[in-house]
Amino acid sequence: MRREIAFLRRGQPVRLSQAAPSLTLLDYLRLEERATGTKEGCAEGDCGACTVVLRRVVGGEVAYQAVNSCILLAGQADGSEVITVEDLADGDRLHPVQQAMVDHHGSQCGFCTPGFVMALFGLYHAPPSASPDRDAVHEWISGNLCRCTGYRPIVDAGLTACTGARSDQFSANEAAARTALAALDDGEDLFVGGDTRFFAAPASIASLASLYLAHPDAVLVGGATDVGLWITKQLRDLPKIIWLGRVRGLDAIEDMDATINFGATVTHEAAWPHLASIDSDLGELMRRFAGRQVRTAGTIGGNIANGSPIGDTPPALIALGATLTLQKGDTVRTLPLEDFFIAYGKQARHQGEFVRAVEVPKLKPNESFRALKLAKRYDQDISAVMAAVKLTVEGRHIAEASIAYGGMAATPKRASATEAALTGLSLDDPTGLDAAVLRLAEDFSPIDDMRASAKYRLAGAQALLAKALAEIGGMSSTETRVFGRRAGDATAA
Ligand SMILES: Cc1cc2nc3c(=O)[nH]c(=O)nc-3n(C[C@H](O)[C@H](O)[C@H](O)COP(=O)(O)OP(=O)(O)OC[C@H]3O[C@@H](n4cnc5c(N)ncnc54)[C@H](O)[C@@H]3O)c2cc1C
Ligand code: FES
Ligand code: FES
Repeated sequence: MRREIAFLRRGQPVRLSQAAPSLTLLDYLRLEERATGTKEGCAEGDCGACTVVLRRVVGGEVAYQAVNSCILLAGQADGSEVITVEDLADGDRLHPVQQAMVDHHGSQCGFCTPGFVMALFGLYHAPPSASPDRDAVHEWISGNLCRCTGYRPIVDAGLTACTGARSDQFSANEAAARTALAALDDGEDLFVGGDTRFFAAPASIASLASLYLAHPDAVLVGGATDVGLWITKQLRDLPKIIWLGRVRGLDAIEDMDATINFGATVTHEAAWPHLASIDSDLGELMRRFAGRQVRTAGTIGGNIANGSPIGDTPPALIALGATLTLQKGDTVRTLPLEDFFIAYGKQARHQGEFVRAVEVPKLKPNESFRALKLAKRYDQDISAVMAAVKLTVEGRHIAEASIAYGGMAATPKRASATEAALTGLSLDDPTGLDAAVLRLAEDFSPIDDMRASAKYRLAGAQALLAKALAEIGGMSSTETRVFGRRAGDATAA
């Protein structure tokens, strides 16, 4: 067993044997290294000012992962090379991304600039398939906010710097970095601290299962994109942390004939193309899931296990009929994902049990799917309402409906009255479809909160379902009475 967190800085190993379990990477950099180029803006994963890049070997390839250091634990850097804005210039020569920011006037007050530079540095080293157009640059900076420059000069800088061959010092030393990173990858369990305060990172599912059984009060951490905020916003002391990111096999994706099986630590970035292969709406949903840095760290297992009523993947996976695998000690069990969510803050997870995987059925030829997210911003925003609709259609008739919502109840939840009302209807029966859409008022009594009022949520939920029905029925939304009428207006039906 290894007793110290180990990562590389500027090619040299850093070993932390005394670090507090919940030390964030940003605090390590700014307070211990005094590397203050990396900024703290929001301390909640929203603004991107704290972006750093972790260089790792993933699937045999060197990957450059842009992450928010404010909500990433220092221990989560284990096995990587931590690259910050201070490291980019080669002597007196600015990095091509930095030079392009200067040339395009991409900075005013400069507070956001290190974060943008690091996000674009991630793009600079993205595989050639991500060779950027404007949309790709937008996507890479979707987790960064600027309050004074405006985005056009920054996007122009990204396009200029990230087009053409890569020729920086990091490309040049990639072989050496690969060797140094391989030396850190010892495959041992990591345990720093003692019995009452520790940061642990088991290397196998068996080690995880026995450690969590011994310490069921420990906090499991996938990407820490939720847990990180408990530390930075709620100022909680988390004495026992088990990070899942080193567990071999827990990040596996198995693409089978009829299903795709996602291990709990599959990140949203890694899941994205696979979910998109099931349906393009799932791809669009992942595109709108947070921003690049949060997707790079956050995991599918965390999005399910946190039990949030406004998580984006649970409604989509419930509508698709996903099955959850849980493990406690040596005992593995499965249950329909929808049965996992019992009440607000309460899930069907026993003490010492962890989410191991989720199996997602692919669509059959007679099934149609829509996932529609309503949020105030396109990027980096949690849903006010999230609708997922799967219809089994025979001829022009709805043989079965599976509809789940986020943001409409205390848990992600099926709309059973609406499903029943839709079953048997023709897609060419606008009056019947209208009436079924209004049944959502029976399924849900949404709450008022800062994201949306109850009235807005219900009207939004009805409009999203109407849009889904119109699209699946093959009508443009303007052609249909369903989408044309004011959602929620019973007299219009
Ligand atoms: C800026 C920002 C934007 C966001 N936008 C979105 C969004 O658009 N849509 C959305 O749905 N969410 C969003 N989130 C929330 C968050 O990113 C997701 O919920 C994410 O999937 C959490 O995954 P994680 O691995 O980071 O979880 P963590 O923070 O590591 O853990 C979350 C919870 O799950 C538990 N846990 C983690 N893994 C397991 C496991 N395998 N077994 C048992 N328990 C486990 C943890 O103990 C904790 O209780 C956003 C967050 C931020 C900071
Ligand atoms: S400081 Fe804003 S995302 Fe980290
Ligand atoms: S340059 Fe001031 S916030 Fe971006």
